Amino acid sequence: MRIRSLRMEAVSFWYGRTQILQNANLHFNSGEITAILGPSGSGKSTLIKCLSTVLKPGEGKITANGKNLWDDLNAFRLQLGYVPQDDVIHRQLKVEDALYYSGRLRLRNFDQGSVLSARIDTVLAGLGLEERRYLRVRSLSGGQRKRVNIGVELLSDPQVLVLDEPASGLDPAIEEDLVKLLRRMADAGRNIILTTHSMERLNDYNKLILVAAGRVMYAGPPDKLAEHFEVKDPSDVYRALRDRSLDEWESRYRSSTYAVEEES
Ligand SMILES: Nc1ncnc2c1ncn2[C@@H]1O[C@H](COP(=O)(O)OP(=O)(O)O)[C@@H](O)[C@H]1O
Ligand SMILES: [Mg+2]
Repeated sequence: MRIRSLRMEAVSFWYGRTQILQNANLHFNSGEITAILGPSGSGKSTLIKCLSTVLKPGEGKITANGKNLWDDLNAFRLQLGYVPQDDVIHRQLKVEDALYYSGRLRLRNFDQGSVLSARIDTVLAGLGLEERRYLRVRSLSGGQRKRVNIGVELLSDPQVLVLDEPASGLDPAIEEDLVKLLRRMADAGRNIILTTHSMERLNDYNKLILVAAGRVMYAGPPDKLAEHFEVKDPSDVYRALRDRSLDEWESRYRSSTYAVEEES
C-alpha cells in the first residue's frame, strides 16, 4: 500500500468524560516534516497517539488514501513507525542486538535472519551508528539512544514515521543532527510527524500544527505562524495565546484559508 494521503477528519478524543482533542481536521503530507506544537498538556501526544492507532478516536476518523485506519489496522501499521517519548529499548542490550531482537519480535517478513542483518546494516549506517554497534545501549549518549529508538522503527522502512518529542533532552547540536536525519527521510518521500513544545528552529519543518487545550489553533507554514498570531516572533506565540481567549484564536483560525485547506 502506497500512502498518498493521511488525514484526520473531525477527530475528537476523550479520556473518560474529559475531552482531550476537539474536532481536529488535518492533513499530513508525504515528503514533509510536520511539527505539532503546543504547551505542555495541550494534547500533542494524544493527537499523535490517535494518528499512530495507539488510541482510537472517540469521534471522527483518520484515513489513509480515504480509508479509515481502523478498518484495516494491520495494513496501516505495517507502514507506520511510532517512536514514543521514552526509551523502549532495554539498556543492557548491545545496539546491534537491540535492533535484532526488535526485528525478530515485530516483523514477520524478516523470517530469514540474513534479510534482517542486511536491514540492520542499512539502518545503522543511515543513523550514523555503525561505530556504536557493539556498545551497550546504556553506555550511549541521549542523542545516540534516541537514534537507536528511531532505528527500531526504521527496520521496516515505514512510510509514516511519528515521533513524540524526539528532541527533548538533546543538546542543540545533536538536535540539529536529528533534524537532518529526519529531513533526509522526508526527502526520500516519507511522511514525518513529530511533536515539540519548543518554538525554536521552526523553519526546519514544512508545516506546523499548533494545539492548545486540545483545539487546533493553527495549521500552516512556519513563516506565517507569527503573523497569524499578530506577533513579531514565534517565541511570542504562547504569550499571545494567553492574551486572548482560546475561543477567539480558534475562530480566527477556523475562518482562515489555512483551516479551509485542512478541511478540503
Ligand atoms: N491516560 C490518561 N488519562 C487521563 N488523562 C490523560 C491521560 N493521558 C493524558 N491525559 C491528559 O490529557 C491532556 C493532554 O495530554 P497530552 O496529550 O499528553 O499533552 P501534551 O503531549 O501536549 O503534553 C492532559 O490534560 C493530560 O493530563
Ligand atoms: Mg506529550
